[in-house]
Parts: sequence; structure tokens; C-alpha cells
Amino acid sequence: MIVKEIQTAAYLFAAILFILSLGGLSSQESAKRGVFYGIIGMAIAILATVLGKGVEGQIYIVVAIAIASLIGILVARKVEMTSMPQLVAILHSFVGLAAVLVGFGSYLDAGTQELTGTAHTIHLVEVFIGVFIGAITFTGSIIAWGKLEGKIRSKPLLYPGRHVVNLLLAIACVVLGAMFTMAHGGDGMLYLYIMTGIASFIGVMLVMAIGGADMPVVVSMLNSYSGWAAAAAGFMLGNDLLIVTGALVGSSGAILSIIMCKAMNRSFLSVIFGGFGAIAVAGSSEEIEGEVTSLEHDAVADLLRGAKSIVIVPGYGMAVAKAQYPIFDMVQALRKEGKDVKFAIHPVAGRLPGHMNVLLAEANVPYDIVFEMDEINEDLPNTDLVMVIGANDVVNPGAQDDPASPIYGMPVIEVWKSQAVVVMKRSMAVGYAGVQNPLFFKENTEMLYGDAKESVDKIMSHLKE
Ligand code: TAP
Repeated sequence: MIVKEIQTAAYLFAAILFILSLGGLSSQESAKRGVFYGIIGMAIAILATVLGKGVEGQIYIVVAIAIASLIGILVARKVEMTSMPQLVAILHSFVGLAAVLVGFGSYLDAGTQELTGTAHTIHLVEVFIGVFIGAITFTGSIIAWGKLEGKIRSKPLLYPGRHVVNLLLAIACVVLGAMFTMAHGGDGMLYLYIMTGIASFIGVMLVMAIGGADMPVVVSMLNSYSGWAAAAAGFMLGNDLLIVTGALVGSSGAILSIIMCKAMNRSFLSVIFGGFGAIAVAGSSEEIEGEVTSLEHDAVADLLRGAKSIVIVPGYGMAVAKAQYPIFDMVQALRKEGKDVKFAIHPVAGRLPGHMNVLLAEANVPYDIVFEMDEINEDLPNTDLVMVIGANDVVNPGAQDDPASPIYGMPVIEVWKSQAVVVMKRSMAVGYAGVQNPLFFKENTEMLYGDAKESVDKIMSHLKE
């Protein structure tokens, strides 16, 4: 058994490691180190808790951890990068469920019933809030998973007066909370159950009302909720580390949601209260002028041979095609010939934060040739050729000059300012926001139709000729 002081020191050390881990995750170079700190921190936290005072039946905990770890390893090995948001969503649902169960357990615990006066009331409020947030996180995350996985229709479920219904349900929970804190000797369990049912329903309705396009923001918001649920569980259990960790997850999730909304020029509240997916497909009001022209792989190879400076803008299509490996082979070949080749990453390219950075890192692309949107935009007028590979919304000039466009105001990579642009995608289909892209109609832009990976392979074979 670990004595209390050693446990406190271990918790403090683990909390520091978690903070270092979050710090590490903020840049590609240090991300691996960040993950490593997180693993060590979590291992210390689990050991210090399992071996701590008052914990019995360690063997069951060890067996449960072993089984869960095995499932975790299998799932993580199998999951595709494009399915990552779904995995994150379902993992959040577990945190929500855990907070609900901890709340029930903590209320039924003999120690809770022995508390009196203010201490008793405070503990009951902790239990009630923890279960409330946990239940919303649990069902909301399951709906988010269903929408991302395509099991539930991604169209927002909107009905008149839904905000009023949600408000009434929230008020009902406050009333139940008052009755719960006033109940004696375990009689409050019924109120807790009813509130859990209502909160679960609120979680379902909140996320059902949000369109598929906003789901990654919702996942990050649920990440934040799961953090607060964990912090609440920490208060219930009197576990300082859980409070600190929960607060770290809660605040980092909230910050990430706001950063994503800013990068998409969407207001955070309008995402949370839903409806965007319903209007996004309406598209732009302007008729697009110009003609769409396309070329073949050999012509693109010629353009690459003639260009001195080349910028590659990857998007969701690169992830779908898994084209990052052949793209990097092509980049290496071009750099060997003395060409200046860079990657330009939009903050919301793909479907999850850092999506493109992760894929490029997977293909071993060096970080010093990967640039953020703000860094690259000023270089584009002096760039000979931009290759847009599976990106669409993030290079849409309508975001700057069509006030009727649903993405108007979203910062974009200004590829049309370069000398020539080649857009590689399979068709003229729209991107995630559901709007047509005037870039494809510009005079300096040519389309190269086909799967991104196959196209890059073909260009490479022409380059080798
Ligand atoms: P999108 O605008 O979604 O466009 C991707 C394009 O890739 C599609 O137009 C598609 O056209 C093409 N594509 C699909 N499969 C392909 C394949 N195998 N080979 C070649 N092309 C393929 O992607 P984006 O430019 O990366 O923009 C991201 C969008 O997602 C933005 O609207 C953003 O707001 C939204 N979003 C992102 C995030 C985060 S955090 N990243 C979160 C929420 C929402 P074809 O079908 O014609 O091939």
C-alpha cells in the first residue's frame, strides 16, 4: 500500500507530466515526446491510485486493465486516420458513462450518507452536476459517433421550439437537483435517476440538432465536456489528480473548439445550437464566370519540370486516397532537381485538427517544408505552380469575395494568386461545405481528374521518362 504522502507526490508528478504532454502536442516536432509524457503520467496515476489507501481487490483492477488495454491496442491498430473523429467520439462516451457511474456509486457510498451539514450538501451538488454532465456527454458522444460513422442521418434534426424544450428540461433538472440535495438517507436516488434520463435525452437532442459539417467541432466540445465530467468525478472522489486532469482536458477541448470555429469563421454558439449543415448546401448565389479546363498527367509533369517554386496544398481527398506517400516521393524527386517545394496547410483542411500534419508526418515529410496558411499566403504571388491535392473548401476564393457563400469570411489559402494552379480531384463535386468553387473556373487553373494517389503515381512515371 502506498502511503498518502507518496500518493500525493505521485499525483503531482503525473499532473506535471500531463501539462508537459499537452505542451508537447502543440507542435509536430515535440508531439511524440508529448504522447510519451502522457503515457508515463497515466501509468504513474493508475499505479498510485490502485496501490493507494482504501483500494481493495487489486487483482480485479489489473485484469480489467489488461483486457481493456488489449481492446484499446487492437482498436487503435485497426482504425483508419479518416475514422479518428469517430473513435475519439466513442471514447468520450466512456468518460461520460464513467462519470455517471462514479456519481451513482459515490451517492450510495456509506461515507456520503454519514456526511452532515454543508459538507453533505456540497458533496450532493458535486454528484448531481457530475452525473448531469456525464449523461449529456455519454449520449451526445454516441450520437456524434453515429453521425460520423454514417449510422445516423447527418442532417440536423430541427423542430420548432426545441430551444424552449431544452430550456424547460434544464429547469426541470435544477428543480430535481434541489429536491435531491434536500433528500435524506439515500432517498434522493430516484431524483438522480430521473435527472439522468432527462440529461441523456438533452445530450441526444443537442447533437441531433447539429449538422454533419460541424461534427468535428462538436467532438472537440464533447471532449471538453468529458474533461469537466472527469473533474466533477474528481471532486466526488476527493481525487486531486482527476480534478487537475479533468480541468486540463475541459479547458483544452474548449480552446480547440474555439480555434476550429475561428478557422472556419463560424460562431461557437451557432455551432452549439445547430442548424449550419441545413443551410450550407444552399450554396452561393453568384453565377460563376469562366470555363473549366483540364489536362492530362504528362502535361502536369511538364508543368512541374518547368516550375522553380512549387507549393502543394493537401486536403481531405489526400487523406481518402492515402496519397501522402507517393506525394512525398514526388517532392523528393523534385527537390533533388533543385526545385523549391513546400507544403501549405490550412488549419481546418481534412476532417480533424492537424489532420494533414499527421498524414505528412506519417510519410516522413520534414517539418521545415510544411508551412501554415498565414506563412505561405504572402509567398504565393511569387510561386510558379500550386498543386491542390484533394482540397476544395480551403482554397475557395468565394470565401473572400462572395458574401452569399456559406463559407464567406473563412480564411483560405490564396492559391489563385500564383502563376499556375493544378487541382487534383475526381470530379467537379463540391467539398464539405457543399459550395461550388470559383477557383476551378479561373484562367490560371487546370483540373486533373482522378484519384489523387493514382494521379500522383502517373505523374511520377512521366517525370521519370
Ligand atoms: P473538402 O472541401 O471536403 O474537399 C475535399 C475534396 O477532395 C472533395 O471536393 C473531393 O472531390 C476530393 N476527393 C475526395 N476523395 C478524393 C480522392 N480519392 N482523390 C482525389 N480527390 C478526392 O476538403 P478540404 O479542402 O480539406 O476542406 C475541409 C472542409 O472540412 C472544410 O469545409 C472545413 O471547414 C471542414 N471541416 C474541417 C474540420 C477540421 S478540424 N479539419 C472540422 C470541421 C469541418 P471529388 O469528389 O471530386 O474527388
